[in-house]
Amino acid sequence: MKYKRKKMWKSWILFGFIFAMFFLIPTGYAYLMTRDVKTEKDIITDEMKLKNIGYSLNDISIIIKNKNIKKYALKNEYDSELMDYVNTKGFDIKNLSKYKEYKKNNIDASIEDTIKIVNLGLNIEYSDKLINIINHKYFVNSRVNRYLEYTGKNNIDEIIKYVNCDRDREFYTKILQTNTEKGILMLVNKYYYLNDSFTGLDLVNIESNYGTGQMNQEAYNAFKKLSDDARNQGLNILVKSGYRDFYTQQSIYNGYLQTNGEWWTNLMSAKAGHSEHQTGLAIDVQTYSTYNLRDFLYTNEYNWMINNSYKYGFILRYPENTRDTTGYDFEPWHYRYVGIEAAKIIHDENLLFEEYYSYYIQK
Ligand code: DAL
Ligand code: ZN
Repeated sequence: MKYKRKKMWKSWILFGFIFAMFFLIPTGYAYLMTRDVKTEKDIITDEMKLKNIGYSLNDISIIIKNKNIKKYALKNEYDSELMDYVNTKGFDIKNLSKYKEYKKNNIDASIEDTIKIVNLGLNIEYSDKLINIINHKYFVNSRVNRYLEYTGKNNIDEIIKYVNCDRDREFYTKILQTNTEKGILMLVNKYYYLNDSFTGLDLVNIESNYGTGQMNQEAYNAFKKLSDDARNQGLNILVKSGYRDFYTQQSIYNGYLQTNGEWWTNLMSAKAGHSEHQTGLAIDVQTYSTYNLRDFLYTNEYNWMINNSYKYGFILRYPENTRDTTGYDFEPWHYRYVGIEAAKIIHDENLLFEEYYSYYIQK
């Protein structure tokens, strides 16, 4: 029995060999050969077909490079516009009919601009302003109508900047709850707020040699490094005020209101729910020698912060001359933790956090 089974196996293996030698290998080979020949034949036929349709040899050499363009050209009658589009940057065959439609309705638009506008999914009347807007580095597609409608500024850089900062709207209008899922990058300002139930992001206590109060854990670790490095250079940078809850902010704001009036109060203090201090990511800093926050501006520590804080993930949140956009007076003491990656971009590209958020985060 055992012997018989062994013998059967041997015959099966032998059969397998013979099958492979005389059937599988030759048919496989023949299939590959015919497939190659078939493809070659196809190319020749396609080129001839395109020639018959009316394309020049030069056109054909471009058409056959792209499967989808070739498919379109073979399926349709001679298309005199096709080559103009094909040879322009950004061309996408699936938008061809939309390009043609747009161009028909906007005869002043160049092929290149038509492609750009249609590729962005826009169907907006052509204008120089539109082109300048969509070509701008910080253009955000979802804001296109707001850029076009905004008449507060004439210069494109300013239009983009102001709209990206929501400044086509009055402060504290159309306010929205901020997306706290953005973590260290959450945006809190006069348009984006936190509920009173939001009590800071991962708070820790600040040890007395780094200041006082509480702040976000990650921001605190970064701040300790910053403060230690500054201290090694003989500078003292301490947190005077970190996390503030909704109600603390409310009483600060109301306190200012009673002594300073509304206009000045709004330049200095955020309404409850609208302060970055409620995130735990913002800090007001001081040195041992300055007890009034305003004096921080005249210290070596301030200079050091301006040149170095971004390396630790902090940004100066309300720079000089940004009242119009941030809504606050210059606060040389107020820094916001956003992480090193964002802080470097904001520093290198000279952006406000609002501009960074609109372009890099929210988009
Ligand atoms: N002073 C800043 C703007 C705040 O109140 O959050
Ligand atoms: Zn502050």
